[in-house]
Amino acid sequence: MTGEGTPRWYGRRHGRKLRDGRQALLQDLLPRVRLVPPRGGGFLDMKALFPPPIAEVWLEIGFGGGEHLAAQARAHPDVGLIGCEPYVNGVASLLAHMERGGFTNIRVFDDDARLLLDSLADASIGRAFLLFSDPWPKKRHHKRRFISRQSLDTLARLLKDGAELRFASDHMGYVRWTLELATRHPCFRWLAGAKRDWLQRPADGFETRYEAKATAAGAVCVHLAFERLKRGAAA
Ligand SMILES: C[S@@+](CC[C@H](N)C(=O)[O-])C[C@H]1O[C@@H](n2cnc3c(N)ncnc32)[C@H](O)[C@@H]1O
Repeated sequence: MTGEGTPRWYGRRHGRKLRDGRQALLQDLLPRVRLVPPRGGGFLDMKALFPPPIAEVWLEIGFGGGEHLAAQARAHPDVGLIGCEPYVNGVASLLAHMERGGFTNIRVFDDDARLLLDSLADASIGRAFLLFSDPWPKKRHHKRRFISRQSLDTLARLLKDGAELRFASDHMGYVRWTLELATRHPCFRWLAGAKRDWLQRPADGFETRYEAKATAAGAVCVHLAFERLKRGAAA
């Protein structure tokens, strides 16, 4: 994100040794669907990224094992989906979903999303998802959280007028943090009208692997949706 320099990555990149099939997907399928920011700057040509017809492009930051991204790709064949995830095992899992489902409307940035966002044009994204983003619970680690004033500025630049930013978490500290930053931001409006709006996953949403684990452990999951306000109308 502009002005930040090369961001430092604190998460993990590798997990258990990959099965041969997954390793093969990383070698064969990933190069065909990988997003590479243009050398020397400039924006990616969104229209050229996906086979037509594509109505709009959605973005998921930190897709984990890719279950949600794959479900969205299946439900919305006319939407191009960009997924960002530096965890290699997660990327391999998404590739397995893509191969099984035959999806052609997913492109993968297999690195820290912050290294991609400057390559996406203003108002080029129709919806953004940040689902069960790492909460970094210790106070001294809060600055590692993905949501910050700066990342919201970037998302406000990328999202089209009226587009939704969807955030979910089972960590109430991170929920409060996000609510405070997003409701104070001049470009966003929280869409909740009643308690059920934030205690229930949106009707057109899909459960993520992390959410399933959190729910099974008895945690409460909060789902926040923010509207990117019309340009020019914001304070
Ligand atoms: C707690 S996991 C949740 C994964 C998935 N969204 C789910 O709900 O099952 C958070 C994920 O976000 C990824 N992540 C964290 N920071 C990121 C960043 N800056 N760019 C892209 N992915 C990121 C991590 O690698 C991790 O896989």
